[in-house]
Amino acid sequence: MKIIACYSNKGGVGKTATSVNLAYAYAQAGYTVLLCDLDQQGAAGFYFRVKPSKKLTDARFFEDVSRFTKSIRASDFDGLDVLPANLTFRDFDVFLSRMRNKRSRLKKALVAAGSDYDVIILDCPPNFSTLSENVFRAADQIVVPVIPTTLSERSLAQLVAFFDEQKLPKKKLRAFFSMVQRRKTLHLETIEKMRKQYKKRILEAEVPFAADIERMGENRAPVSIFAGRSDASVAYQALFDELEKRGVPNK
Ligand SMILES: Nc1ncnc2c1ncn2[C@@H]1O[C@H](COP(=O)(O)OP(=O)(O)OP(=O)(O)O)[C@@H](O)[C@H]1O
Ligand SMILES: [Mg+2]
Repeated sequence: MKIIACYSNKGGVGKTATSVNLAYAYAQAGYTVLLCDLDQQGAAGFYFRVKPSKKLTDARFFEDVSRFTKSIRASDFDGLDVLPANLTFRDFDVFLSRMRNKRSRLKKALVAAGSDYDVIILDCPPNFSTLSENVFRAADQIVVPVIPTTLSERSLAQLVAFFDEQKLPKKKLRAFFSMVQRRKTLHLETIEKMRKQYKKRILEAEVPFAADIERMGENRAPVSIFAGRSDASVAYQALFDELEKRGVPNK
């Protein structure tokens, strides 16, 4: 089982779009996939037509394997299940920080409840928190969408600095350019500059700014379902291929 987190400390950069399309790509490739919607906004679940869990459970949710497992829902696609967002996630940080040995808390829960899956994808909310620290430690690969503009560039620099400070393994980081508009000079310049600076830390695959991705909201499906030959669909496939090729870094 491998854990892939879609994370950025910046909001609205394409984490959820990436989680949804990657989850589908992994399932299409024959893996069994669990997409965990760790963001209270519940967008990842929405795209897969899975309702957020209304049950008010307490913060021990993740400790209780049977409750965790019972909350998992099937999607419309073979091999792809979803853990919908839950109101409990409000207290998630409290739960994670209260525990001794908090570092392994999330990983332990995921391994216990999700061991039947080949791949677990985590759609994360945008911030630095106890949850994100747990995500950084639990994930094998951290996929970071970066819009090629100054503010996103700053966010990636902050993330890398955080990894340095906390002595977290930077080799897990897999940044990629998201919402790329090649007719914008700023985008092209930022891409060139950041590729020089970050080298292998940034994947080759780029996801363009595409109306088809925005239309996922109306269609409530991954982009390949309703726009199979689109640039967006091809781009997510390339992202999947590259992640597979790069593999999980050695521990
Ligand atoms: N490549 C893209 N091209 C055009 N629109 C996109 C693209 N990726 C995402 N979007 C749109 O941008 C908005 C934000 O995307 P998304 O929800 O995936 O970002 P996020 O990082 O998960 O945001 P949040 O931080 O709020 O969780 C959505 O309306 C989505 O449809
Ligand atoms: Mg999101």
